[in-house]
Amino acid sequence: MYDLVILGGGPAGYLAAERAGEAGLNTALIEKGHLGGVCLNEGCVPSKTILYSSKLYSQARHSEAFGVSVRDASFDLQKVMARKEKVVGMLRKGIASTLKKKKVTVVGAEGVILPRTDNTFRIQAGTEVVEGKKLLICTGSEAIRIPIPGADRPDVYTNREILSVDHIPERFVVIGGGVIGLEIANFFAEVGSRVTVIELLPAIGGPVDIEIASALRKEMEKKEIEFKLDSKVVEIGEKSVVYEAEGKRETAAADIVLMSVGRRPVTRRLGFENLNLFIDRGAIRVDERGRTNVPGVWAAGDVNGMSMLAHTAYREGEVCINDILGKKDRMRYDAVPGVIYTHPEVATIGYTQQDAAEKGIPVTTAKLPMSYSGRYLAENEGGRGFCKVVVNSETRALIGVHMIGSICSEMIYGTAPMIENELRVEDVAELVFPHPTVSEIIKDTIRQVK
Ligand code: NAI
Repeated sequence: MYDLVILGGGPAGYLAAERAGEAGLNTALIEKGHLGGVCLNEGCVPSKTILYSSKLYSQARHSEAFGVSVRDASFDLQKVMARKEKVVGMLRKGIASTLKKKKVTVVGAEGVILPRTDNTFRIQAGTEVVEGKKLLICTGSEAIRIPIPGADRPDVYTNREILSVDHIPERFVVIGGGVIGLEIANFFAEVGSRVTVIELLPAIGGPVDIEIASALRKEMEKKEIEFKLDSKVVEIGEKSVVYEAEGKRETAAADIVLMSVGRRPVTRRLGFENLNLFIDRGAIRVDERGRTNVPGVWAAGDVNGMSMLAHTAYREGEVCINDILGKKDRMRYDAVPGVIYTHPEVATIGYTQQDAAEKGIPVTTAKLPMSYSGRYLAENEGGRGFCKVVVNSETRALIGVHMIGSICSEMIYGTAPMIENELRVEDVAELVFPHPTVSEIIKDTIRQVK
């Protein structure tokens, strides 16, 4: 009998298992695939690994402006994919070794929750029945395939298959201009495919700031990516994607199609009905401590549908373990950063101007071009991109930061404690930033707020 059984070994599940093991809970982690979940095996890590290769390749071909010439730069997809496998493999081993150190039992099987006869949770995992006093569900999410003719064709990929592609397609069509679609479009455009992104809405990038979305589209158009906005895909045929725009049917030629139209929590065929778990719009409903409607059952990560980001999942997993241990903790979503790892990158946190208007929060905004930063200009010929901040005009507290430019993914975390601690413009102005770094743009922009 375990103190805690965790179902699913992605970011929420494996980190929660580590924390539980550390705290001395006798913990079992049930995972049917590789440890690390979608993020490590078919999402964040492999995509960032191959995107780094396409960035290097692009830089090699466009480095003359920096006084560097590279002759005959070439891109070897097989080597790039082999390196990706190596990176993923090392990280998987790292997770397994940490779990072993924390004395977590890893059960490598698909877990299905069995009906309850007493207070014990029983999970069928292959031929074994794993029993626990408490249960944490971290079963993640899966890619949505829109139910249109041709959606199940073999040349229609999701994030999983596209990250193991064995050739560079001549014509690559992406359905959905969200995070996954844009990152993968960026990769294929940089390695020579002709890329078209078809997006239902009038803008790309989902909920990102409208000015950032427009700037990102322009940057990606420079890579010759074609965008079809306000366009609804209705059919996928032999080497073609059919979409409707302004009432007309159009066709985009495609050798490979990526369907990246969102993800949904994995809640089916796992025996959730045996617990009478409250599933709300496809996701397990949880409170701010990760508790579900069933006493003794917590849920963390994509399966709760709250944020669908690996870093949120880590924190949610931690919050659940702290709650199980009786420690005071709660999940806060106000300062969760979001990044689109395109080139240039987009990094955002907190409220956009649009969010604030919808919530009736009075705001003042300020914006500075990245070229204001000496370091940025030194390392980015042309120096495009900008930083935009959103400040509550009544309290003068910082409530949002939105950036587009290279490496802004590595700076955005610095604004999380500013937002969490409700720092005002005047408080940030007193902080000392290292010079010359691009991060100074954050302070400089905040200081522009009148
Ligand atoms: P998404 O929700 O970000 O974007 C899907 C897009 O598809 C939307 O813009 C939607 O309007 C469009 N769409 C839907 N139906 C369509 C149709 N019939 N025709 C044309 N367009 C259509 O979903 P995505 O990109 O699949 O990502 C899934 C999840 O993975 C997201 O929740 C994201 O948070 C997470 N993720 C995060 C990453 C990051 O943090 N860098 C990277 C990859 C994924």
